[in-house]
Amino acid sequence: MTNVTDPALWWKQAAVYQVYPRSFKDTTGSGLGDLAGVTEKIGYLSQLGIDAIWLSPFYPSQLADGGYDVDDYRNVDPKLGTMDDFDALAKAAHAHGIKVVVDIVPNHSSNLHPWFQEALAAAPGSPERDRYIFRDGKGPNGDQPPTNWENHFGGPAWTRVPDGQWYLHMFTKEQPDWNWNNREVRDDFLTTLRFWLDHGADGFRVDVAHGLAKDLDRDDLDNYVVWCTSDQPDDGSHPVIDRDEVHEIYHEWRRVFNEYNPPAFAVAEAWVQPNRQYLYASPDDLGQIFNFEFAKKDWIRDAFHEAIEEGIASAERSGSSATWVMSNHDVVRHATRYGLPQVPTSEYHQLAKDWVLRDGTTYPLDRELGTKRARAAILMEMALPGSVYVYQGEELGLFEVADIPWDRVEDPSGHRTSQAASTKGRDGCRVPLPWTTDPSDSFGFTPASKADGTPSQEAHLPQPAWFKDFAADIEDSDPESMLNLYRRALALRHELQTDDLSLTWLPEDRSSGKPDGANGFTGGTIAYKRANGWASITNFGADPVDLPAGEVLLTSGPLTDDGKLPQDTSVWIQLA
Ligand code: GLC
Repeated sequence: MTNVTDPALWWKQAAVYQVYPRSFKDTTGSGLGDLAGVTEKIGYLSQLGIDAIWLSPFYPSQLADGGYDVDDYRNVDPKLGTMDDFDALAKAAHAHGIKVVVDIVPNHSSNLHPWFQEALAAAPGSPERDRYIFRDGKGPNGDQPPTNWENHFGGPAWTRVPDGQWYLHMFTKEQPDWNWNNREVRDDFLTTLRFWLDHGADGFRVDVAHGLAKDLDRDDLDNYVVWCTSDQPDDGSHPVIDRDEVHEIYHEWRRVFNEYNPPAFAVAEAWVQPNRQYLYASPDDLGQIFNFEFAKKDWIRDAFHEAIEEGIASAERSGSSATWVMSNHDVVRHATRYGLPQVPTSEYHQLAKDWVLRDGTTYPLDRELGTKRARAAILMEMALPGSVYVYQGEELGLFEVADIPWDRVEDPSGHRTSQAASTKGRDGCRVPLPWTTDPSDSFGFTPASKADGTPSQEAHLPQPAWFKDFAADIEDSDPESMLNLYRRALALRHELQTDDLSLTWLPEDRSSGKPDGANGFTGGTIAYKRANGWASITNFGADPVDLPAGEVLLTSGPLTDDGKLPQDTSVWIQLA
């Protein structure tokens, strides 16, 4: 289903549902979700009303980083199925009018990738080593790493191999960085892009899109860190993040995308300064970029207002469309964030991450409030011009699972020595989905038994008992559930959608950012309308506000008896 007049531009205002395959639906009883599980639930996704699914990596992987360590870019992990399963999934999705976006991981492979194994077996200076980033170390014996860099998950960004050289890995040591100056690497990725497009994929989500181009031939490398920061340069001068040359790579990819009809879609995961986003979103480049501002913000009016303005300005500059994301597989679920105290800090979600680290005991989580705000937030988000990315489970209103035992933590960013840990990682938003209220088969995530009649294994991450209250089957039959709010909002969004990507602010109460006791910075409204008079208003403040004249189409919660919009509630109105 498209929102825009030109079907080739389906992605411009799509609702894209992110599937984290290992945690979506298990059809074999292995305790791990699989591709056949996504196919089994296509009816559910179609009824939800989304336009596309984005599949996080499902490629062969030792799971050093949840599948973002790829052993083979042109295959399916045998634990998750076969290429036939992928073909069946693409076919089923297309039969329901749902596009399929696959995740491409071009910054690094896995250390089990055959080319990395060849590089290890080959000599320093060999063509095999040149596909990755090998360097001699510093110091008289070369036993110091080439730079002082730490990787994203902690620990050195260089690992030494037996002959004394070091290889670069911006993430775990199992994720060696590719050398994008190497023609073979570039050509191999072009082959991979065509491979998935020929198998029916409609486009790509590009992992760490800002990282591929690197300039290591300079002597100031120790002055930089390799992860994205809010004060990183905005002029392409960083040695490994957001360099101008990265766009030569994507211009070449775009030529491949345009061999297809309609041209393949791509969205960049690029944590770059706002003034650099348009480069990735330009039509001769990847075409769209994630705007993570919503995912970073707490429930504070000014923060959202600014994020909307920035997102729209950046999309206008590129000629693309804006994107809106509240949750994904890397951040604490937003129903939890909005139910914790709202304290803006320089590092986003530090408070929520601390809450996870202490098993949910540091601060009280007000679940009712988190749910109420999450309901208001989705209406605020879904009326905006541009694409909306929904992360699996947010449509059920799931909270982050904070109390995963340390010996079950899978994420490399969770440091396993609990005493010294600074984060418990991202598993809390990756816990397998509850489909039914029955805990005996991991809430319907696994089948009752395996094909041979033996019992299914437990879901790969432990599900808390409270998951039963969020099971898809009970939410299906509850008209007031989060699931049914998402369904109504998505259906209406299709009906109301307009090609016009402009947004007009309505009169707003801008009295926001006021500390309000223990639980936050409340106050103010966000109110805007689309070109066709479709308006969305959200009230962050304690006093109910009057609605403009028009027809009320949908609310995230009840209005007051005298028809006003209460706190932490959103409304859609067709203006008179
Ligand atoms: C991206 C992914 C994240 C992964 C990282 C390394 O940021 O979203 O999950 O850990 O890349 O591939």
